[in-house]
Amino acid sequence: MECVLFIGIQASGKSTFYKEQFFNSHIRINLDMLKTRHREDIYIAASIQAKQPFVVDNTNPGAEDRKKYIEAAKRGRFKVIGYYFEPDFAESVKRNELRAGAAKIPEIGIKSVLKKLTPPGADEGFDELYKVTSQNGKFIVTEL
Ligand SMILES: Nc1ncnc2c1ncn2[C@@H]1O[C@H](COP(=O)(O)OP(=O)(O)OP(=O)(O)O)[C@@H](O)[C@H]1O
Ligand SMILES: [Mg+2]
Repeated sequence: MECVLFIGIQASGKSTFYKEQFFNSHIRINLDMLKTRHREDIYIAASIQAKQPFVVDNTNPGAEDRKKYIEAAKRGRFKVIGYYFEPDFAESVKRNELRAGAAKIPEIGIKSVLKKLTPPGADEGFDELYKVTSQNGKFIVTEL
């Protein structure tokens, strides 16, 4: 069973990548959709109990943000896989500008997550780590 953690600033392509790679196999856990940490915890616990692969599609910028998912997954004997979306601040700002309604967020929000962003390390408990970049609208995945 797999717990997949995405790590990346806003508008870096995480949810798009989820749709391309994980839509048919992994439940998507997303704080923007679930609204509260309490509701998120319920879905994480349920996925682990049901042995259902899942993706945590949040920005997850720091080791502290990632810790609770990694610990819960390990307790449930899930494999933990991280995808680090290489930040491109200017590109993210541009993509955010093209968004409509509530999806469009203030630029300062992107800057603040960028400041907190630390690349994931194997010492956090990841079993596999990948880096995601994008070129001409296509995702390129390499080992981190
Ligand atoms: N590889 C790509 N190349 C160019 N544009 C992309 C790529 N992936 C996604 N986009 C576009 O960039 C925008 C942001 O993508 P997406 O919503 O997937 O980002 P996100 O990381 O999930 O952001 P958030 O953290 O705010 O949810 C979307 O409008 C999407 O169409
Ligand atoms: Mg998203």
